[in-house]
Amino acid sequence: MDLSAGISFSFLITIILCSYSQSSQLYLQPVKNDHAYFTGDKFFVTCFTTEDNIEKLTWTDFESNPISTNDGRIHAEPAEGDQVGLRLVFTNVETEDAGTYTCSDDQDSVSFDLTVYRAVSFSDTPSVQHAPEGDTGVVLCNVKSDPKPVVNWYFEGTKISEDKKYSIHPDNHSLKIHDLTRNDAGEYKCKAFVFTHLSSQIKDFDIKLHVQYVPEIIGEQRISTYASVGSKKNLTCTVTGDPIPIFQWLHDEMIIHNNTKNFVIYSTENTSVLQMHIDNEDRFGEYICRASNPLGEKEVVIELKEGDPPSAPELSVIGQDQVTVKLNIKAHEDDDVEDELRVVGFKVEYILASESWNSALSQEFKIGGPYELKNMSYNTDYIFRAAAHNAAGYGNYSGPVEYKTQDLQKAPVISSSSTVFTLSSLLFVSMLLFVLL
Ligand SMILES: *[C@@H]1O[C@H](CO)[C@@H](O)[C@H](O)[C@H]1NC(C)=O
Ligand SMILES: *[C@@H]1O[C@H](CO)[C@@H](O)[C@H](O)[C@H]1NC(C)=O
Ligand SMILES: *[C@@H]1O[C@H](CO)[C@@H](O)[C@H](O)[C@H]1NC(C)=O
Ligand SMILES: *[C@@H]1O[C@H](CO)[C@@H](O)[C@H](O)[C@H]1NC(C)=O
Ligand SMILES: *[C@@H]1O[C@H](CO)[C@@H](O)[C@H](O)[C@H]1NC(C)=O
Ligand SMILES: *[C@@H]1O[C@H](CO)[C@@H](O)[C@H](O)[C@H]1NC(C)=O
Repeated sequence: MDLSAGISFSFLITIILCSYSQSSQLYLQPVKNDHAYFTGDKFFVTCFTTEDNIEKLTWTDFESNPISTNDGRIHAEPAEGDQVGLRLVFTNVETEDAGTYTCSDDQDSVSFDLTVYRAVSFSDTPSVQHAPEGDTGVVLCNVKSDPKPVVNWYFEGTKISEDKKYSIHPDNHSLKIHDLTRNDAGEYKCKAFVFTHLSSQIKDFDIKLHVQYVPEIIGEQRISTYASVGSKKNLTCTVTGDPIPIFQWLHDEMIIHNNTKNFVIYSTENTSVLQMHIDNEDRFGEYICRASNPLGEKEVVIELKEGDPPSAPELSVIGQDQVTVKLNIKAHEDDDVEDELRVVGFKVEYILASESWNSALSQEFKIGGPYELKNMSYNTDYIFRAAAHNAAGYGNYSGPVEYKTQDLQKAPVISSSSTVFTLSSLLFVSMLLFVLL
């Protein structure tokens, strides 16, 4: 926009100068005497002449050294297009380039002053920063510029204002966060503004803040669980923590090493599973899952007691509602069973009558039901079986129960809501008739 306005302006001048003067005249574009840029900028200033060639034009710097037309960081090159002019091109301008530049021929000369400011830089500001929870956290922004920048901070896109929670250091611009919590973790932006009467610059830098904390146990800190001799058992502990915690398992104050005869440990970022084979009664007792990071450690104590899984439950099929098969499952347990060993749920496995249990599908239920298998096929022979679950694990499966689902036309609708609907609509119609009569 500026350029085209400038071009028409220059045409105007050309016409005026051509009609009123025989000697050459020089003029610059952009049409101003003061140019200000930031280090690293790339720009050019063009010197136009009323003559019809540029052979006599030269650019000189503040020490009167002519600027060559080679391809240097600062160089001169002919203007493109119809106009007759010589450009002075700066690539990657530096502070020492500041000064007066002059374009001249044998009759005229014209100059401009170049000011160069040091651009905003965030050199060696880490883009990922860490601070421990609880203390006062500091987010660094090593922003530099000349003149000095004004710095604003943003958290998750919202501008931070200085208050009880936040303060911004006037010299090094670091952001202090008081009473740092995990909610303060996230994306910060350090935004720098530089302005002078000649120019301005805005730059920003994104920083991800991790708030570190001592491992925290998810769930109970003391757990009791059961198993029987000869069975396999998984002990699990789940924590969160930053840095990611390291897990260690102990039994009888001895560290359990991975991949030994009776133990395998599987750990992910926040869960560790101790998979064990209970070959004798010495395996019962207290296990400790210890999760630690540089900020501290936490322990989950798991008491492993001897106890049997439940006996096989009783399974029968109630019926079918469209593609849903409804089951009845009853636990078999003694009245005097310990509360901690009561049945808490069931697992139902099912296969097509032609398949083996290796290809079984399964579904788990909490005790109390309803025990419904959705999305079954019409007119299909199935075999079902169920096992009960308590703190010692799954017990034996019930005997297999065969059931053939009915085909689409015959599938009965055992939902009662439709009957209620018919009844109430009947009632409504009769009331209507009554009123009309
Ligand atoms: C910022 O500067 C102040 C004083 O100049 C200093 O006490 C503080 O440690 C500095 N903060 C950082 C993060 O460099
Ligand atoms: C223990 O965990 C492993 C792997 O997660 C699993 O395959 C296995 O079935 C589990 N064992 C028991 C007894 O729950
Ligand atoms: C323990 O050993 C098993 C089997 O070699 C391996 O898959 C697992 O990752 C190991 N666990 C740990 C915590 O190193
Ligand atoms: C486990 O860690 C993952 C990844 O760090 C996290 O997304 C998930 O919420 C954590 N789970 C729990 C239960 O804290
Ligand atoms: C499970 O079945 C096995 C063999 O069929 C039997 O020895 C065991 O006692 C049964 N377990 C329970 C809890 O009923
Ligand atoms: C129902 O079963 C079909 C075929 O087995 C499967 O593609 C579909 O995802 C299932 N739908 C639901 C809701 O489980």
